[in-house]
Amino acid sequence: MDAESKTLNDDASEVAVRQARRKRRRREQQGTDGAVGDLTARLAEERTIRLALMFKERCAETHLKELVIEAADDERRVTVGGRQLYTFGSDSFLGLDRDPRLQQAMARAARAHGTHNGASRAFTTIELCGEAERRLARWLGVQDTLIFPSVTLANAGLIPALAGTGDLLVVDRLAHDSIHQAAKIAAGNGARVEQVYPCCEETLTKLLGQQRLGGCVVAVDGVNSMYGTVLPLREIDEVTRRHGGILYVDDAHGTGVVGTRGRGAAAEVLGSLGNVLMVGSLSKGFSCMGAFVTCTPELKQILKIKSNTFVFGGPVPPPYLAAICAVCDILESPEHEQMLKRLHMLIERLTTGISDLGLHLVGGESPIISVVVGDIELTLEAGKWLFDHGYYVQSATFPAVPINGGLLRMLVNANHSVEAIDGLLEALGEMKRHFDLPSRPAVSR
Ligand SMILES: Cc1ncc(COP(=O)(O)O)c(C=O)c1O
Repeated sequence: MDAESKTLNDDASEVAVRQARRKRRRREQQGTDGAVGDLTARLAEERTIRLALMFKERCAETHLKELVIEAADDERRVTVGGRQLYTFGSDSFLGLDRDPRLQQAMARAARAHGTHNGASRAFTTIELCGEAERRLARWLGVQDTLIFPSVTLANAGLIPALAGTGDLLVVDRLAHDSIHQAAKIAAGNGARVEQVYPCCEETLTKLLGQQRLGGCVVAVDGVNSMYGTVLPLREIDEVTRRHGGILYVDDAHGTGVVGTRGRGAAAEVLGSLGNVLMVGSLSKGFSCMGAFVTCTPELKQILKIKSNTFVFGGPVPPPYLAAICAVCDILESPEHEQMLKRLHMLIERLTTGISDLGLHLVGGESPIISVVVGDIELTLEAGKWLFDHGYYVQSATFPAVPINGGLLRMLVNANHSVEAIDGLLEALGEMKRHFDLPSRPAVSR
């Protein structure tokens, strides 16, 4: 063995010894032994886990993750650790989680159908599910919809069903994690997956203009879940269709709250949902559980066969199906217009106030409003400061946003009081004096 190889070998064995020592130490710390202990120790070595655990430990005082809510009222006051404060961390945007009509519909359905209908819909379903799908389609002005138990499961089932061997799947780099995970399954099935950033006419034209044999799907968020922003969907749809593809919009955060009659960002920008596939959430604005995709009856037949999470997974339970129908009653009544009016008045009040404070605001096109902080520890400290002053907002840090792209993420709900919004603004103004936060970027000319 030459001298160079010997040095390399020595280095490698030293690394192995260090790793084994660290593993043993971790195992001792975690108090587990055997296969589960080994597995835990191995996972704890992963970079993302190490980083998350390090911040959890280092910022124990300000971390505010996995908070336990002890009580809640109809105006978004919650009790945490015996203290009452306003929460701006709920994506039940219309406040329907507190609505007695939904609660009663759930109780009635539980009595009639039981708490769960106990099998994949590929075997059996209940009429309430068909009713909910028809009601959603009527509200959105589309031919049909297909319900899944969550948006994550809808994406994981639908995206690989739409793009397989020989197809091109283009995903916005800023799209929700569930789209990226679904894209990995599609890639495993043989689709060519490309990430695009920024997702716009120019970058898409370059990608979609390349020669390909199969079909093409472009998958994006409607409302971005962290920034509350909306992509230029009209241009994206046009360029996608010009190249023979179809646009897939995960509008989880737009459902029920954005655009005319709350039909979401895609319906608002494109005028109709006839030429796209739109996935909506039934948990956020709807305050129920599940998701749906817009489709035609013919496509629905195919999706029911091709979406693995539909075939091999369970259904949305009857109480939630009944609650979804109760929400559709509200969405088809003048009351919804009033709720939207109030929600948008509160959004406007908060965004104007934040802009006036000179903070770096993003969003405002939806109930998601974020203030850019940047540094992870500073983001956690600023969130804790607000918490201590009576307002819970989400400190969004890596991996939800890029490293040092920390945000204070606020979710406005129709059942927030004006006093809660004004109180939060006052607290943000006071907070600004205590922390060195980035100010609003100068408007480029
Ligand atoms: C754009 C987007 N897609 C999917 C999800 C996940 O939704 P679900 O909780 O229904 O799986 C979220 C959750 O915030 C989201 O923002």
